[in-house]
Amino acid sequence: MNITLRQLKVFEAVTRHLNYTRAAEELFLSQPAVSMQIKQLEDSLGQPLFEKMGKKVFLTDAGTEVYRYSQAITNQLNDLQTVMEEMKGLQHGRLTLTVASTANYFVPTLLGVFNERHWGVTVDIDVTNRENLLKALAANTTDFAIMGQPPPELELEVHPFLENPLVVLASPDHALAGERQIPLDWLTDETFIMRERGSGTRAARERFFAKRGGIRFNKTMEMNSNEAIKQAVQAGLGLGVLSIHTLEVELMLKRLVVLDVNGFPIMRNWYIVHRQGKRFSAIAQAFKDFVLTESKSLLNVPSPDATA
Ligand code: PGA
Repeated sequence: MNITLRQLKVFEAVTRHLNYTRAAEELFLSQPAVSMQIKQLEDSLGQPLFEKMGKKVFLTDAGTEVYRYSQAITNQLNDLQTVMEEMKGLQHGRLTLTVASTANYFVPTLLGVFNERHWGVTVDIDVTNRENLLKALAANTTDFAIMGQPPPELELEVHPFLENPLVVLASPDHALAGERQIPLDWLTDETFIMRERGSGTRAARERFFAKRGGIRFNKTMEMNSNEAIKQAVQAGLGLGVLSIHTLEVELMLKRLVVLDVNGFPIMRNWYIVHRQGKRFSAIAQAFKDFVLTESKSLLNVPSPDATA
């Protein structure tokens, strides 16, 4: 079937007036132009849509059926137009985000404020590891990724918007709690609890120690969530290196302390990342602008100087 919206529009006018001349007047067309559009529509559908008796025009059964569908199509198009206009007005729309697990300690705060301003917006958020995050960017299934370390291999636009200090954390009764300027080699007897392979936090920690002569630790353990590491450190199983963003509550309640280790914090950044040349809806563009201009003032980043 090869029918056009224009043919349907002409058909609707003829149906309303049951008169070709008046339909032509309404549409600012000539009468033969109207007849031709109707003829083409009838040919495409393989059915006569009108019949003439004397000077009068009547809708056939097929015509009645086509009118019903045609009105539904017109309504849908009107709805589409409204939705598009609302999206331009930044009150409706959909935003897809893929967020590194550590970034999810502050992204909900940002979304809370954004959502208050753009109440009709639906946000799809996927909190995931770096590997899946890169897949989503490569497949163009996400508007933005919020991550700690954009990969050089994809064609991406990357914008830093917030500092991400990584600190050494310990339980408050650890022997090194309260010490100042702890030399790195004092840590060699310690057990370190690390994030899983693929974590940006882990990669940054490994780069840091590799640059300083590949310090070896007594023992390392691996856990695949920031929460599990905090629990383990709190229980005295060892030390951890995590983003300060994960520690707000524990530092406030003094369940964990930040050790003053030479070279720490490891200063990193959070980035909002998208594919180069990606076409954004108005709401996605508004979100990007919001993150870049307002995150710093909205987020309460605990101080890395919160040593014991
Ligand atoms: P992650 O955080 O350790 O939760 O993957 C991302 C990053 O810090 O790069």
